[in-house]
Amino acid sequence: MFAAQMIENTDKPAFYRELRGQLAALLSGETDPIANAANTSALIFQMSPGLNWAGFYFLQAPDELVLGPFQGKPACVRIAVGRGVCGTAVAQRKSMLVDDVNSFSGHIACDSASRSELVVPLFRDGDIFGVLDLDSSSLARFDADDRAGVEALAAAYVEASIWK
Ligand code: SME
Repeated sequence: MFAAQMIENTDKPAFYRELRGQLAALLSGETDPIANAANTSALIFQMSPGLNWAGFYFLQAPDELVLGPFQGKPACVRIAVGRGVCGTAVAQRKSMLVDDVNSFSGHIACDSASRSELVVPLFRDGDIFGVLDLDSSSLARFDADDRAGVEALAAAYVEASIWK
């Protein structure tokens, strides 16, 4: 049985190195992308302070993301590419760090408590196939260390999973 070990989180790069190691151990021996997405969102949500939502959206058509495994309140199911923070991350092929979602034109509010958001695209063979989305009820919860750390967690998820 996997048991997450609490991590000191005052040093963010060290926190994410440790969390990436725990994620690799959690996903080890399992390649199912949905099961791995479920466990990835659960571990991130359990271990990261100040999150109110953590989960996946997958491209089910070239222009549409569909909700995947997550932790938090029920969320909007379909997001058009180019819309919201998630759809913008896909359109621009880059991570989106939003300090104040109310200042992001087109932000899609799933949980009215959300104040800041970090969205990281998922790349497979150079193509984006989804995003990993973290929300917080605190303003400016995420910084460049979180972006780099969550990009590394997303890479570990992609590395462990095999799509048939
Ligand atoms: N806020 C996101 C929508 C997804 S929820 O945060 C879970 C967006 O603007 O794309």
